[in-house]
Amino acid sequence: MPPIIDVENLTKRYGDRAAVDSISFSIEPGSIFGFIGPNGAGKTTTIRILTTLLRPTSGWATVDGHSITDEPYAIRRIVGYMPDFFGVYTDMTVWEYLDFFSACYNIPASQRPGLVKDLLALVDLSHRRNDFVDALSRGMKQRLCLARALVHDPKVLVLDEPASGLDPRARVEFRALLAELGNMGKTIFLSSHILADVAEICTEIGIIENGHIVTHGNIEAIKRHLQEEHHLCIRVLGDSVEQAKSILATIQGVQQMETKATGDGDWNILVQFSGDKAAISHLLKQLVLADVPVLAFAEESASLEDVFMKLTEGIVS
Ligand SMILES: Nc1ncnc2c1ncn2[C@@H]1O[C@H](COP(=O)(O)OP(=O)(O)O)[C@@H](O)[C@H]1O
Ligand SMILES: [Mg+2]
Repeated sequence: MPPIIDVENLTKRYGDRAAVDSISFSIEPGSIFGFIGPNGAGKTTTIRILTTLLRPTSGWATVDGHSITDEPYAIRRIVGYMPDFFGVYTDMTVWEYLDFFSACYNIPASQRPGLVKDLLALVDLSHRRNDFVDALSRGMKQRLCLARALVHDPKVLVLDEPASGLDPRARVEFRALLAELGNMGKTIFLSSHILADVAEICTEIGIIENGHIVTHGNIEAIKRHLQEEHHLCIRVLGDSVEQAKSILATIQGVQQMETKATGDGDWNILVQFSGDKAAISHLLKQLVLADVPVLAFAEESASLEDVFMKLTEGIVS
């Protein structure tokens, strides 16, 4: 199947600074794609380009085969967009708000009541239909905004930092809602500056840093790839630390070593090691066979957050 979103060498410059610098990635139909990066990385800029609100300086992108620069109206029919700010809507009820945006999308008046009712049920706001928008909680506003992005039944949803500012409960509810939309077959592109916020529901992620894509692809594959990299902590008796290090240095897969005194005369050797479980046990065996007095041997597993830090370290200018 051709990708539903295809981005090739997309660049946006402000003066001589590139907010987005020749990024390329593609997204399969039906994916939930997490676009992850710290503040200022270029997420909103990319999203505004994909939603036709901003023209790229160079490069191209298509959504469902349509060019974002040459066919903006086609793109707007396909894409539902939720910006990173909500706006102020005084004197408008929840119902009027959705009715208004349905009218903006030329939904006939006869169909609007049914549509608004269905959307309110979907985002669990039916009981607040006559409340003023400004009186809603942040989480409810966010869900209303999502309903608004859905009025024209778009194939693709583009959500800019939908989880930011939500309390933990609202975050869980919002995630469940996105998973439901994913099950309905929508492709979802959402950005976040917190990997852990979206990792659970995303099928694919792309990590952006300083206008560059650091990595992208299937989230399981990225995790697996990084799990082949182990952090071992080996504690040895104090006077054997040099011997232990010289043996470790000869073992294939040992990439980096760092020693730290434990405070009571012994040493921890932190080893960055690439290899499978058998290779780890072999490493321990070699130390023991060489009579290194090993006091403790542990593997510290990398969390997704470590992965993110690792992937983006050294790139910050
Ligand atoms: N209109 C603009 N003029 C100049 N610089 C901008 C403009 N919009 C964004 N930038 C810069 O581009 C970079 C990326 O911004 P943005 O896409 O908003 O990042 P993110 O959404 O990941 O936080 C930032 O350094 C930001 O300051
Ligand atoms: Mg942003």
